[in-house]
Amino acid sequence: EALEAGRLPLAGRHVLITSGPTHEPIDPVRYIANRSSGKQGHALAAAAYAAGARVTLVSGPVDLPDPANVEVIRVQSAAEMLTAVETHLPADIAIMAAAVADWRVASEGAQKIKKDGSGKPPALQLTENPDILATVGHHDSLRPELLIGFAAETQNLIDNARSKLERKNADWIIANDVSPQTGIMGGDANTVRLVSRSGVEDWPEMSKADVARRIIARAAEALKG
Ligand code: CTP
Ligand code: CA
Repeated sequence: EALEAGRLPLAGRHVLITSGPTHEPIDPVRYIANRSSGKQGHALAAAAYAAGARVTLVSGPVDLPDPANVEVIRVQSAAEMLTAVETHLPADIAIMAAAVADWRVASEGAQKIKKDGSGKPPALQLTENPDILATVGHHDSLRPELLIGFAAETQNLIDNARSKLERKNADWIIANDVSPQTGIMGGDANTVRLVSRSGVEDWPEMSKADVARRIIARAAEALKG
C-alpha cells in the first residue's frame, strides 16, 4: 500500500509520441516542410517520462535538444515516420503531435532539378502521404489503449477536430487554432481544447510544458478508469 502510494502514474507504461514537422524531398538538395517547431511534442515526451513512463519519441527535423531519458528516433519524411511508429508499437498511449506533411513529391528526383532555360518552372507532381494517426487508429492488434491526435486549424476548429476524431478513430483530439496572429506555431504558449466523444473542454492559455503535463495527467487517469 505504501509503495503503491509512491508509484508514478505512468510507471510500467510505454508512451509513443510523434513530434516536429516532416521534410519531403523534392530532389537531393530541396524539400517541402512546414513551420512546426516540435516544442509541444517534445514537451509531451518530457512530461510522460516525468510521470514514470518509458517513452519513445519519433521526431522529424527540429532544432531542439533531445528530452532526457527518452528514446529518440529521428526521421525526415512521413513514410519514415510511419515505419518508425509501427516498429516501436505496441504502446499503452500514443500521442501524434507531429505536423506530418500532407503531400510529398510523387517521384523524388535523383539529381538536382536544373532550370532548362525556357523560363518555365518545373511542374511538381504531388501525392498524398500516409496518415500515421489513422493507420494506428485502425490497427487491429497494435492500436494503443489511448490514442491522441492534434488538430491544427485556422477555421471551424471544433467541427474539424470532431471529424478527425471519427475519421482517424482517435480517443481525443487536442484542437488548437494556429492562425498566424495566435503565435502558437513556434511560440512557447498554447491554447487548446480537448475534444473527445464525451464533449469539448476549453483549457486556458498555458505554456506548452503545462499543456503537456495536463494531457499526460489526464491520460494517466483515463488508463486507470
Ligand atoms: N496526422 C498523421 N499523419 C498525416 C497527417 C496527420 O498522423 N499524414 C496526424 C497529426 O499528427 C495530427 C492529426 O493527424 O495528430 C491531425 O493532423 P492535421 O494536419 O490537423 O489533419 P489532416 O488529417 O492532415 O487534415 P488537414 O491538414 O487537411 O486539416
Ligand atoms: Ca495536415
